[in-house]
Amino acid sequence: MIPAAGKSTDVSRERGGEEEGFAPAERDWRRSALAASGDAQVSLWASAETAREERFGKRIFVRGVIEVANFCRQNCSYCGMRRENGALRRFRLAREIIRRVIGESLPPSVTDLNFQAGEDPVALKELVLPVIEEIAKEKRLGISVCLGTVDHRLYDELRQAGARGYIIKLETGDPEQYRLLQCPGTLERRLEAIRYLVRTGWCVSSGLIHGLPNQTLDQLVGTLDLLRSLSLSGCSVSPFIPGEGTPLSSEKTADLEQTLNVVAVLRLSSPRWVIPAVSALNLCDSSGYVRALRAGANLATINLTPSEWRGDYQLYRRNRCIMTEERILQAIEQAGCQPSLESWIAASSSFPPSASLVPASRSSP
Ligand code: 5AD
Repeated sequence: MIPAAGKSTDVSRERGGEEEGFAPAERDWRRSALAASGDAQVSLWASAETAREERFGKRIFVRGVIEVANFCRQNCSYCGMRRENGALRRFRLAREIIRRVIGESLPPSVTDLNFQAGEDPVALKELVLPVIEEIAKEKRLGISVCLGTVDHRLYDELRQAGARGYIIKLETGDPEQYRLLQCPGTLERRLEAIRYLVRTGWCVSSGLIHGLPNQTLDQLVGTLDLLRSLSLSGCSVSPFIPGEGTPLSSEKTADLEQTLNVVAVLRLSSPRWVIPAVSALNLCDSSGYVRALRAGANLATINLTPSEWRGDYQLYRRNRCIMTEERILQAIEQAGCQPSLESWIAASSSFPPSASLVPASRSSP
């Protein structure tokens, strides 16, 4: 049975940290929810929408993303930016261009900025850090980054510069699948990075890819369990899209309906999470984005990367689904909601995990 909205199953924070796991009954409702179709599916999505409303009202967070560089030292087999994709024109934006985007073309609905790049410590140090130092002084925007697994000291430097949110996905919580997909480093190291970020006071958002080739229901449920154990502030699910220029390019695209079931299960099992609607949902179907907002998602992202470089920031395919402010506002309205006036980081910080600010120099081995 799907838990009624309001009967929160989100106990991880109350317990002040990590969770032991799930009672069998809870695993069972998720298994049937993940496979729901027909009326059961409609009621699953509606319950998730109600759970979102109970916690966040009808407000959807709006984050602007600037993709600052597409160099990547990783070689994930699903991702078009993998280092072995020689077909990609690699770029790092000039600092001046990033400043111009922020200074001149920030849509009014944006309360948050996210700096995203492949795993490229040069871009982190030379572009992202100095720009964040400049803009954080104004304290106008919530600042987050999605820059991969890097040295702990760089996390600390980013935080000192003023970043507060770190987006770092697991993709899968199954160690063997993680290894086969050539995800960054090892699952253990990725988890260790997430735990470090949480411990040092970041609002951490993670995520998974749904519908990866040969993914089993057990792997999916195990991944959801692991994500729930991490004291996260948010979590996303991307439908698997066979990426151009990747070893998985001829695999099957994930099923949209089932991916929406995952969105709903994330919301029902962790009502406090900030759950983004990802633009890849619109690659499955043009209704995907709005439907995710109606299945419990509560964050929308506007792409602010200058058009000249967008095509080269190729996670899936060159012709991306670019979410402009106009598209986002329309989707939010179609979902019966309004843009939030508050940053997702400010909202998440009102439920702080048991964080202590421990500098890397004192906590890393
Ligand atoms: N399908 C779905 N999501 C993908 N990502 C990258 N490649 C794919 C793909 N083929 C997502 C992953 C990654 C983020 C940068 O984009 O979640 O962490």
